[in-house]
Amino acid sequence: MKALKLASTLATPYAVIGLSAKDGKLKIESGAVTVNEKALLEILKNLGATGKSNEIIKVPFSKPQTIYFTGLGETSKSYDPENLRRAAGSAARELAGQSAATFALPASTLAQISAVAEGAALGAYAFNEFRSSTKSDFKEPLEQIIVATKSTTDAAVKRALVRAEIIARHTATVRDLINTPPSHLTPDSFCSRMKKLATPLGLKVEILNEATLKAQGYGGIIGVGQGSANPPRLLRVSYNPSKARARYAFVGKGITFDTGGLALKPANGMEAMKSDMSGAAAVIGAIFAIAELKLPIAIDAWAPLAENMVSENATRPSDIINIYGGKTVEVLNPDAEGRLVLADALVRAQEVGKKAGGLDGIIDVATLTGAQVVALGTRTSAVMTNDVEFSQEFLTASEKAGEAFWPMPLPEELRASLDSPVADLANIGDRMGGMLVAGLFLKEFIEPDLSWLHLDIAGPSYNEATPHGYTPVGGTGIALRTLVTLIESASSQAPRSRK
Ligand code: BES
Ligand code: MN
Ligand code: ZN
Repeated sequence: MKALKLASTLATPYAVIGLSAKDGKLKIESGAVTVNEKALLEILKNLGATGKSNEIIKVPFSKPQTIYFTGLGETSKSYDPENLRRAAGSAARELAGQSAATFALPASTLAQISAVAEGAALGAYAFNEFRSSTKSDFKEPLEQIIVATKSTTDAAVKRALVRAEIIARHTATVRDLINTPPSHLTPDSFCSRMKKLATPLGLKVEILNEATLKAQGYGGIIGVGQGSANPPRLLRVSYNPSKARARYAFVGKGITFDTGGLALKPANGMEAMKSDMSGAAAVIGAIFAIAELKLPIAIDAWAPLAENMVSENATRPSDIINIYGGKTVEVLNPDAEGRLVLADALVRAQEVGKKAGGLDGIIDVATLTGAQVVALGTRTSAVMTNDVEFSQEFLTASEKAGEAFWPMPLPEELRASLDSPVADLANIGDRMGGMLVAGLFLKEFIEPDLSWLHLDIAGPSYNEATPHGYTPVGGTGIALRTLVTLIESASSQAPRSRK
């Protein structure tokens, strides 16, 4: 996607219009513009259109030349923004290869107009970087998105469009990172790519290499990364606006490939573990968007990066490592590596936050457990917390952003399963409730009076099925929109009273 604009008429050869149905009766939903509904309904009936979500019906017409009818489901007086986001996204995906299209959907509120712009821009994505001889078989994403609205001069609508473009561009970066295989994305190259993007945004970047990590006691990141020829890194990107109203830390799991280490994963499906840095990509993408939106909240985004490999140097089951700050962990299963790199980064993030005057909250984002996918499936992420009020705020933001998150508990009785006979903690506990056990492990590294969210995005971060709505196959970019929306609402609120 190259540009996002507003218009009050259908001036492009391609148009996207909504189609709904109720009691077997189709309804054309063209929002701010009018079309010849009678003639079009006749054609749509003959084509067997249903108006169901995810349905796209292409109709050759005169003006506009081609209409893409996108299903909105049941006819409504006012459509849910996420419904519009998805309908616009499905159509944008179908429009790959075209240079421009006008989206005329039933959007009158700011939330609805934003959703149309966002959905269309998010749907206009493709990852063809590594195609060579087959490149010409694949279409480029839709280039120009025009959102039809009566309020083309409204300042808030204009801002919403700018915001949608920012969200989509940084989501594309997150998706690209996830889709890039470990042959082309190592802890070091992740850092250099991010540094290149961070600098023009005025962000500060700090990169710790393996020698520094070792010298300063980052035993989790070193222990996970030591089996690989591609050494680990700790990346920190800082956004420090003047007169910040609050300060948050984001920490994202950055395993550039997870073989499972000496607890080697089965070959079947291992390729999906190139996505095990989705949390790191999401938090860096989010801070980029937050900085570009100039939100008045200070953020440090941390990405502990390592490649979990098998070699003579790999961490063995029974090895004991020292997490940053001193806690010892017995590594019983080297495939439970995410929590080890996160522990280092969480402790460091809190130390730095304290020096800067205290954090208002800390959020980690991770493709942490297969148990998350078993519990919630591939489209709903989990949120765990030590502060229900904070997670409520987060869930409100997720609803607004159109990303599905669901609260999960951290039951105290599971904690004892992480006891080790030889160290402060073992890196695995009860298999049952594995997502919660992983959350309880991380909780050991959080200061009790600091508000903390743990997001397990193992399923939703990577789409191995078919595209749907604005979601492509491969990296999805999940969590970025909710993080940005949360910081937006924190920007317009009085500082949250610390827990
Ligand atoms: N990266 C995986 C979790 C994962 C699984 C992400 C499926 C996305 C899809 C993580 O490092 C892992 O291997 N977790 C283990 C933990 C277990 C050994 C306690 C798991 O979930 O099996
Ligand atoms: Mn693993
Ligand atoms: Zn992993």
